[in-house]
Amino acid sequence: MCGIIGYIGDKTASDILISGLSHLEYRGYDSSGVALMNNEEVNVFKASGKLINLIEILKTKQNICAKSKIGIGHIRWATHGLPTTQNAHPHTCNCKNLTLVHNGIIENYQELKKELEKQGAVFASQTDTEVAAHLIAYEYGKTKNLLNAMQNAAKKIKGAFAFCAIHKEEPDRIVVAKRNAPLIIGVGQGENFIASDIPAIIEYTKKAIYLSDYQIGVITKDSIEIYDEKNTLIPNKIEYLPFEAVAISKMGYKHFMLKEIHEQSDVVRNVLAGKLLSADKKVVLDEFKLTKKEIKNIKRIQIIACGTSYHAGLIGKYVLEKFAKIPVDVEASSEYIYRDTIADKNTLAIGISQSGETADTITAIKQIKQDNSHVVIITNRADSTMARLADSLLPVSAGIEVSVAATKSYMAQLISLYLLAIYLYEQKEVEQYKKEIATLKQELLELPSKIEAIVENTSNIQRIAKKYSSYKDFIFIARGINYPNALEGALKLKEISYINATGYSAGELKHGPIAMLDNNMPVLAILNTGSVYDKVLSNCEEAKARQAKLIGVTNYIEEKDASLFDDIITIPLGSETIGPAINIVVLQLLAYYIAEYLGKDVDQPRNLAKSVTVE
Ligand code: AGP
Repeated sequence: MCGIIGYIGDKTASDILISGLSHLEYRGYDSSGVALMNNEEVNVFKASGKLINLIEILKTKQNICAKSKIGIGHIRWATHGLPTTQNAHPHTCNCKNLTLVHNGIIENYQELKKELEKQGAVFASQTDTEVAAHLIAYEYGKTKNLLNAMQNAAKKIKGAFAFCAIHKEEPDRIVVAKRNAPLIIGVGQGENFIASDIPAIIEYTKKAIYLSDYQIGVITKDSIEIYDEKNTLIPNKIEYLPFEAVAISKMGYKHFMLKEIHEQSDVVRNVLAGKLLSADKKVVLDEFKLTKKEIKNIKRIQIIACGTSYHAGLIGKYVLEKFAKIPVDVEASSEYIYRDTIADKNTLAIGISQSGETADTITAIKQIKQDNSHVVIITNRADSTMARLADSLLPVSAGIEVSVAATKSYMAQLISLYLLAIYLYEQKEVEQYKKEIATLKQELLELPSKIEAIVENTSNIQRIAKKYSSYKDFIFIARGINYPNALEGALKLKEISYINATGYSAGELKHGPIAMLDNNMPVLAILNTGSVYDKVLSNCEEAKARQAKLIGVTNYIEEKDASLFDDIITIPLGSETIGPAINIVVLQLLAYYIAEYLGKDVDQPRNLAKSVTVE
């Protein structure tokens, strides 16, 4: 989604802005732009499409670049208006003195636009951001002070924003403002940085101030002043950024997605470290803040998440209900926030999010917090907005995930949910599944080597990917605890290859979707040993009887049944419960190799954003 970068110091601003934007590219965008300021002028350069188009323009403006030591930059993911150069940020006002980049959505932009038009504002784009630029410029006309203009404008704006503005009359500063959209100020020596996300500035500094909602900052090369809602100057709270620059390198892999799939064995080791030491020891989960007594009082668990994180939540339901013996509801955050929900202090709320910045999930978490439920956040970003809302924070520390398609973060979420289920089981002193829990613990410890066995031998998966890459549609089926992986496998495939893939519970096939089956419809079945093995096999027979092409992803198949399948991908053995954490690796690789074979932009698929910070 949109990304912001700002620089003020003695270096060539355009170099730092372009480098910063290139590290935000993974978020998904469709145009880019920069505004470069020196003592005499502000110059704006914008381009639609990829960042390289903007870089080409800047190559022809070397004089301007060389003398500009202050600048703001942006990559835009279109919300209001097409992804054209005109709609790209930065935006400016009639006199071109004020220049602004913005993340978020201004909800009352139409009302504000009408008012500003009455004052003579002329608009050049369809964006809500240009309205904010005119509004701040209008307030500047009254106050002749960029800080005050920003403060006044922010009060009139409804919606979400991270603003970064410069003004020709104040060529020594950048003014920023934040409400419900992330913004950090990177602290340097004789230079400072602004960014919507850490990767943009981690190369330059490891120190930053996280702006809070309703705060406004004035940044010069030697100072940072933060004002609260009442316009009072507040002390700077400098924090250390958790990433290393090396984490955002492909390390020799063709795509970040492939690198991140390969990293999953280490991710599992990291999530387990210090929490699960051996099969005969209890899970240690100090981050979970409820007491034994409070755990025994939990009557219900409500999981809230979106997309891939939602699928992790669906698997969480199986293990939490089975082992912790607590009923679990899982709901997409975007649905949760628009109904009259029921929760109370005996409801345990679990928010799951890779980015910790997904707007719908943040709103849902705030909603359930008002019902006094204890909020657990499972996230890959301990520095995120959601992490700050948590009563219990379970950071999965999968390392920064650059590819838009979530892979290693999903794995980390699954492992966290397994650990949580075991922890609750042990705290509640449920006796029923002693043997199964010991097996699960052992399997979690052995999981990294099973993942390694899959990623180190992908020739069969690559062959099958090539064979099926020309199909336009795909169906994924599974049952029980693997059903959410049918959804996730289909999501991965459609996200990066644009093949129309749908996941179904295998038992539902005959209630409608079977009508679509013929020899042009590949059906991928997840066939794991366990309680529903025979059922899924029968569903595969039904599909084959309609001439569907059948791919089996299985940890066990008898020779007599193997002939049913056109292709088989064999995975390491494991219990029914651990199955999803093994077979998902195959589904991720299959999606990856199909997209790669089709020559798609694997890491930055069209129309998608890494963190969806708007509703
Ligand atoms: C996953 O591949 C997707 N990019 C998407 O569904 C994602 O999982 C969803 O937007 C939720 O994001 P979050 O985990 O950062 O909250």
